[in-house]
Amino acid sequence: MAELNGRTILVTGGGSGIGRATARAAHEAGASVIVTDIDEEAGAAVADEVSGRFMVQDVTDEDRWQEVMQSCPVLHGLVNNAGIGITRPLLETTLEEWRLQQSVNVEGVFLGVKHAIPVIRDSGGGSIVNLSSVAGLVGNSVGLSCYSATKGAVRLFTKSAALESARSGWNVRVNSVHPGIIDTPIWDKLAASGNTVINDPRASSDPVERASARVPGGRPGLPEDVARTIIFLLSEASSYMTGSELVVDHGMTAGV
Ligand SMILES: NC(=O)c1ccc[n+]([C@@H]2O[C@H](COP(=O)([O-])OP(=O)(O)OC[C@H]3O[C@@H](n4cnc5c(N)ncnc54)[C@H](O)[C@@H]3O)[C@@H](O)[C@H]2O)c1
Repeated sequence: MAELNGRTILVTGGGSGIGRATARAAHEAGASVIVTDIDEEAGAAVADEVSGRFMVQDVTDEDRWQEVMQSCPVLHGLVNNAGIGITRPLLETTLEEWRLQQSVNVEGVFLGVKHAIPVIRDSGGGSIVNLSSVAGLVGNSVGLSCYSATKGAVRLFTKSAALESARSGWNVRVNSVHPGIIDTPIWDKLAASGNTVINDPRASSDPVERASARVPGGRPGLPEDVARTIIFLLSEASSYMTGSELVVDHGMTAGV
């Protein structure tokens, strides 16, 4: 595991799934970890586990971003991980559902990058990792059009922020990670969020199993598979990488 000794890393949405695995991996790599989440109980439990600090945070709230950043004397890494998805056929999706996903997945990432860059720069530099998705690389036909739009936005926002940072000499790298089908609670939340457009009676009723049918080899990834990639991007092992995208999908988007 790449070394993060002496580094302070903040993970949003760190109470569950990929965020939790990232907080654990960062702790194992020697980092001081700050976990934030809108879910106080889950986030605090993870922070406890990694001997870190917990702050309750809704990533869509700019005032709270300022408070969180002011409470960080130093910061070397930010993982903009918090995200949501709503499964709904396009023609049934409401503007409120579109806006909610934009607000958490896009505005949350924008606010994180905007408010963390000065703190990371003044701490001597570091790395920001934004969670996009394979849904930010290729289109989606299973009721995730609006989610896809948010993840596509994260991809290009990441590249532009990386360029601006590099040209400005801030010494803050910005990269995106694109997981495929990863076995986390998000799939139950997606399934619970509403109608899917999958009407195939042969399809599994388990949402992760159903989605994994699209993965070469048919198995979902583990949150730790993504966490390892995030740790690499946070660490000096990736010091010449910025504006890059790393895909963790077991070949799902590699071709036909
Ligand atoms: N699991 C996958 O298959 C998969 C695939 C591609 C991308 N992703 C992305 O990875 C990230 C993590 O997903 P996960 O699968 O671990 O999901 P998850 O649902 O297990 O965890 C998401 C966490 O974010 C928190 N959260 C939600 N809204 C928030 C808000 N407004 N402010 C702060 N915290 C909030 C939740 O409380 C939860 O702890 C998301 O951005 C997701 O879109 C996941």
